[in-house]
Amino acid sequence: MMDEHFQKMDSVSNEGLPGTYEWFSDQIAGHHPSMVKNGKREIGLLKNPGSKEILKPKQDGTRGEKEVALYKLLSSSSPVDAATSPSLLTTSSDGLQNGARMEDVIRMKELTAKFHRMETMFVDGQDRQFMVLEDVTSDYTRPAMLDLKMGQVTYDPSASAAKIERETKKYPPQAAIGFRICGYRIHQSKEEVQMRDRSWGKSFDETNIQNGLAEYFSARADRKMVLREALDRLQRFKEFFESQESFKFFGSSLLFVYEAQEELPINLRIVMIDFSHVFESNGERDEGYLFGIKNLEKYINSLISET
Ligand SMILES: Nc1ncnc2c1ncn2[C@@H]1O[C@H](COP(=O)(O)OP(=O)(O)O)[C@@H](O)[C@H]1O
Ligand SMILES: [Mg+2]
Repeated sequence: MMDEHFQKMDSVSNEGLPGTYEWFSDQIAGHHPSMVKNGKREIGLLKNPGSKEILKPKQDGTRGEKEVALYKLLSSSSPVDAATSPSLLTTSSDGLQNGARMEDVIRMKELTAKFHRMETMFVDGQDRQFMVLEDVTSDYTRPAMLDLKMGQVTYDPSASAAKIERETKKYPPQAAIGFRICGYRIHQSKEEVQMRDRSWGKSFDETNIQNGLAEYFSARADRKMVLREALDRLQRFKEFFESQESFKFFGSSLLFVYEAQEELPINLRIVMIDFSHVFESNGERDEGYLFGIKNLEKYINSLISET
């Protein structure tokens, strides 16, 4: 079964990381130390082997501020806490009240990875801030993971005309599908990881993206059960997006994970990740995200009926 898509785990040097920390080897997409810009490698997710947490670097500027603000809002335990959380709006640095509804906050919390705390780590020669998150892949023997970037547009309301054009050109079918496949990683055995990246994901359009999804959901012989679990878990996301009027997400993903080891339960889980372009929606639904969920549901349904 060894072909170009069955490769050994990526290896990037762990030099420059504190103590026993390593780059998180199961990262599908996003900022990654294998990417070098202006002579500096990007900072990706960190992992202390054996722990159930991962560390996601806080991005520079408003992107990092937004993501941290959202995780802090979700972990606030009372309406008073939530109201004094930093606003998600780029324009309001004046301590305005957060516009999120408490019911939306409470429900969304169940749909994301747990946020534990912020931590400062000395990485590649400087102190950097990290979000300590639950590693949703840590309870699996052979995790099968998929990253879907949700929504009909991936640029946010603050994007310039040039940015809008760049983003739209990256993947024109996004508007018709409501999501794109950023890639997957399936642990076939202890050593072999089958992976597909962003460029593979971009090879699909609305006429054939089902084939890409089918490939991810076929790691086990009981594929129909895997699809049924995916459909079942997706319902809660659909219900949330049918009613929530607090947030609009751009460039945010649904991360899927299930157990590829046949003898173990499928245990399929979905979480929302990547909130660097979250905006307050002020009483409107996120129709683009909801459209993507409904389409995904249709694709999974037709895969079930042809299995
Ligand atoms: N809580 C998590 N548990 C496990 N893996 C995660 C988690 N959050 C992110 N990842 C992995 O890291 C990748 C990049 O995460 P993301 O939040 O999208 O980062 P970026 O902001 O750099 O795009 C995802 O595609 C996924 O594979
Ligand atoms: Mg991402």
